[in-house]
Amino acid sequence: MLKISDNVHEVGASHPELCYFDRLMPTEYGTTYNSYLIQGEKTVLIDPVELEKKEVLLKNLKDLGITKLDYLICLHTEQDHAGSTPDILAAYPGVQLVSNAKVAEFMENHIHIPRTEFRIMADGDTLDLGGLSLSFKSIPFSHWPDNTMVYLEEEKMLFSSDLFGSHYAALDPAQPDFKLQIKEAQAYYAEIMMPTRQQTGKHAEWVRELNPDMILPSHGPVWHDPEVILSLYARWTSDAVAPAVVIPYVTMHESTGVMAKYLAEKIAEKGIKADLCDLGLSDKDLRQTAGEALYLSVDAAAVVLAAPTVLTGPHPSMMFFAALMNGMRVKARFLGLIGSFGWGTQIEKSLKSLTERLKGEHLPPVLCKGLPREEDFAALDNYAEEIVKKIKALPPEDVLD
Ligand code: FEO
Repeated sequence: MLKISDNVHEVGASHPELCYFDRLMPTEYGTTYNSYLIQGEKTVLIDPVELEKKEVLLKNLKDLGITKLDYLICLHTEQDHAGSTPDILAAYPGVQLVSNAKVAEFMENHIHIPRTEFRIMADGDTLDLGGLSLSFKSIPFSHWPDNTMVYLEEEKMLFSSDLFGSHYAALDPAQPDFKLQIKEAQAYYAEIMMPTRQQTGKHAEWVRELNPDMILPSHGPVWHDPEVILSLYARWTSDAVAPAVVIPYVTMHESTGVMAKYLAEKIAEKGIKADLCDLGLSDKDLRQTAGEALYLSVDAAAVVLAAPTVLTGPHPSMMFFAALMNGMRVKARFLGLIGSFGWGTQIEKSLKSLTERLKGEHLPPVLCKGLPREEDFAALDNYAEEIVKKIKALPPEDVLD
C-alpha cells in the first residue's frame, strides 16, 4: 500500500516471486497489480487485482477503514486487473461498476458479469466524486481493444491502465530503483505494447498533450516525471531506428557461434553497435534469452538471426524467437540470416515464413556447410559491409540518436 496524495492511495498487491508473466514474459523483478483508491465525497476503486491476490487488496481497504465503495472502475478486462471484481462486489454490496462499453462487453466472457451491471462511460465523460472528477479516455490496442485511462483533473493524475507499465515489484514502492524501472518498462513495452506500436504511439502523444503531473500505471512504479516515459515511448513507437544490429544466435557445435561472433566483430569495427544474444545458454530459460534479444530489438535497425539447421529446418530455439519477434512485430528495417548446416537446409524458407508479418527487408543469407572456411568468412565480411552501408544510408529523420 502506498499513499500517493491525501485523496489517492495505491491499495493493490505486489507479486515479487512471479517469474513469467502470462507464462511467457520473463519478470526478473516480479510485478505488481496496482489498484487505486480515490476518496472525494464519493469513494472509488480503480481496478481490483489478480484473483490470487484478492486478500491483499481487501486487507488494504480494511486497514484504511473503507466500509463503503461508491464506484468500482474497471479499466481493462484481463484477469490481472479485473480478476477480483466478484470479491469486491461481495465485500462492498451496492458498489456501482463503471467502465467503457468494450470492457463491459468483455467482462461478460472473462469474469461472467453481465454488461447491464455497468454504468457505461464514453470518451470525455466525467464521473463526479464530489470535489474530484474522473474523465474517461479509451486507448484501444494498448494493448487490448478495451484498455481505458481515467484522468483525475484536480490532481493532474493519469491512471493509465497497462500503458506505461513495468513488471517491477520494488522492495520499497515509494523509492523504486529508477534505472530498473526504465529497463523493465522497455522489456514490458517489447512484449506487451510493441505489437500495437502505431496505436500506442498515438495514445502516448495524446498523453503528452494532456501534460499530466503524474502517470499511475497498473503495473510497476508510478512515473513522477511523466516526460521520462513519454520521451521513451516516442522513441520506441516511432518508425525511426537506432544504428544498431542485434544478432540472436543458437549454436550446437560452435560453427554458427563462430559465424555470429565474427559478424558482430566486423559490424562493430565499422562503427555500428552489434549485440550478440546467445539463445541457448544452459543456465537460462529460452524465454529469458529470447526476452533479452527482443528487448534489444525494440529500436535496432537490423536483426540478424544466426541459427544452425536441424533436420533441414531452423534450430527449434530460433523458431521460437522468430515466432516471438514476428508476433511482437519488431520494427527492424533489415532482417538477416546466417548459419551452418550439416548436409542440407530449408532454413531460409522456414524462417521467412515464421517472420512473414515483419516489414523489414530480408537480406540474402550467408549459409555454410559445416565449419566455416575462408570463403565463408569473406562472405561475412561482405555481409557486415552491406548491413552497415544500408544502415548508414538511412535518411537522417529515420535514425534515432
Ligand atoms: Fe495487465 Fe492486459 O493485462
